[in-house]
Amino acid sequence: TYVVTENCIKCKYQDCVEVCPVDCFYEGENFLVIHPDECIDCGVCEPECPAEAIIPDTEPNLDNWLEVNRKFAEIWPNITRKGDAPADAAEWDGKPGKVEMLSE
Ligand code: SF4
Ligand code: F3S
Repeated sequence: TYVVTENCIKCKYQDCVEVCPVDCFYEGENFLVIHPDECIDCGVCEPECPAEAIIPDTEPNLDNWLEVNRKFAEIWPNITRKGDAPADAAEWDGKPGKVEMLSE
C-alpha cells in the first residue's frame, strides 16, 4: 500500500484523489489518508503530490503512518474530487513538527 505522511498536514493539495483508480482516499480537516486494504499499489498518486507526502509502505522509517492511515480511513469520509487546497498550503510545505497539528 501507499501511505500519506506528515507533510500532507495543512498542505492537503488533493491532487492525489483525482488520479486514484480505486477512490481509496479519505478526508480529514487538514490531512488525507489512504485505506491500506483498498489501495492496489498502482503508484500513480505518488508523483502527483506537490508536497511529496505519499510514499510506499516498503520504505524504511515509516514510523506509525501506516497505522494512522488505517485508523482514519475507517472513520473519515471518502473523497474522490479535488477541492481547494488551504490558502496557506505553500507556507506549510516542508515545515517540521506538523504531526502535532493533525486534526482528528
Ligand atoms: Fe490509489 Fe494507486 Fe495511490 Fe493506492 S497507489 S492510493 S490505488 S493511486
Ligand atoms: Fe496531501 Fe499530497 Fe494528496 S498534500 S492531499 S497527499 S496531493
